[in-house]
Amino acid sequence: MTIMASKLIKRFGEKSAVAGVDITVGEGEFFVLVGPSGCGKTTTLRMIAGLESIDEGRLEINSRPVNDVRPRDRDIAMVFQDYAIFPHLGVYDNIAYGLRSRRTPGAEIRRRVGEAAATFRIEHLLRRKPRQLSGGERQRVALARALVRDAQAYLYDEPLSNLDAQLRHQAREDILQLHRRQRKPTVYVTHDQSEALSMGDRMAVMRAGRIEQVGTPRELYEAPASRFVAFFIGTPSINLIEAELSRDDEGIVITAPAFTFRLPERLTARLTGPVEGPVTVGLRPEDLHTPRQAKFAVGEHNTLQAAVELIEPTTAGSTVYATVAGPDGRLDLTASFAGRLPDRYVGQEVPLAADLDRLHLFDPVSETSLLRRDPS
Ligand SMILES: Nc1ncnc2c1ncn2[C@@H]1O[C@H](COP(=O)(O)OP(=O)(O)OP(=O)(O)O)[C@@H](O)[C@H]1O
Ligand SMILES: [Mg+2]
Repeated sequence: MTIMASKLIKRFGEKSAVAGVDITVGEGEFFVLVGPSGCGKTTTLRMIAGLESIDEGRLEINSRPVNDVRPRDRDIAMVFQDYAIFPHLGVYDNIAYGLRSRRTPGAEIRRRVGEAAATFRIEHLLRRKPRQLSGGERQRVALARALVRDAQAYLYDEPLSNLDAQLRHQAREDILQLHRRQRKPTVYVTHDQSEALSMGDRMAVMRAGRIEQVGTPRELYEAPASRFVAFFIGTPSINLIEAELSRDDEGIVITAPAFTFRLPERLTARLTGPVEGPVTVGLRPEDLHTPRQAKFAVGEHNTLQAAVELIEPTTAGSTVYATVAGPDGRLDLTASFAGRLPDRYVGQEVPLAADLDRLHLFDPVSETSLLRRDPS
């Protein structure tokens, strides 16, 4: 069982909500679609489910074109962003609905509803009406309702947005466990990049109706194809700094008001664009270290001085917000340290060593990466 969408287009009036999307979800694959509000995630899912007509493009399920196949004949289970539970039916009947409409025997309906309710911890709510539920409870009913029967494919549209942190964590595990049991192709939509990174076998970042990059979470994190993807993925967000590339006798130099770095040879070899001119430098917070903690040679070529403004303790260490004064105003930098930085550093200048092998470079105009993918 596979899902293959090719050049999907959906227009609402003049505007293309989905403007040529390609998605392939393999046998048993958990595929996550992530992107900002309004980028076309729900519309894409609804086209796959058959709830929205496809203006252009081709949709195949198991190599069979299904553009014109009715939703119920696609045998896809979908969890909706806005729950879509029936207000006049009780929780039990809501969950049982899909089984009844498929003429499932009564004993099996009772068994399956019980199982689904147990999975999402809503056994105690089976006799209530939806209006007697909290948002988070309604969300879990919607999950149970969609997942109570075995489908050929699963679509989730931000199913966890109304759950508190702990329930969300639990529900993520429940969804993944269900997936491991059934191994059916799944498309999971979220705007939460950390959910995408932790759940997806592969993921796609969507922007304004198009897919900006597809790959494993690790590929998108380590080799973002654009400034947008780099900024969207990772918390705290990547530092983006306008700089200038130039060449001297020893190689390539990156100059910004805050620093002068020397581009390591490994990156020079991967450079695709011109080696001179403006560039946007991307530096992830966890690639800035105190010189003492750095696991690489520290020198003038990879160090900058920044004033610490705020230190935030995290489970792993500290997030440090710092600034560098420059001619055109100040540059804000975020650094994630593995260790605790004591509060007495607030207001002080500290050296920050950048792990330059992990630097990202983007074209300031096209915003695409200037680095070829690392073969290693
Ligand atoms: N039925 C509709 N009629 C007109 N415009 C629509 C319709 N449905 C969606 N849109 C528009 O299409 C675009 C994509 O909407 P969509 O719901 O797919 O976004 P989304 O990525 O799911 O966003 P969110 O994260 O907020 O749920 C938006 O600009 C939205 O306003
Ligand atoms: Mg949506």
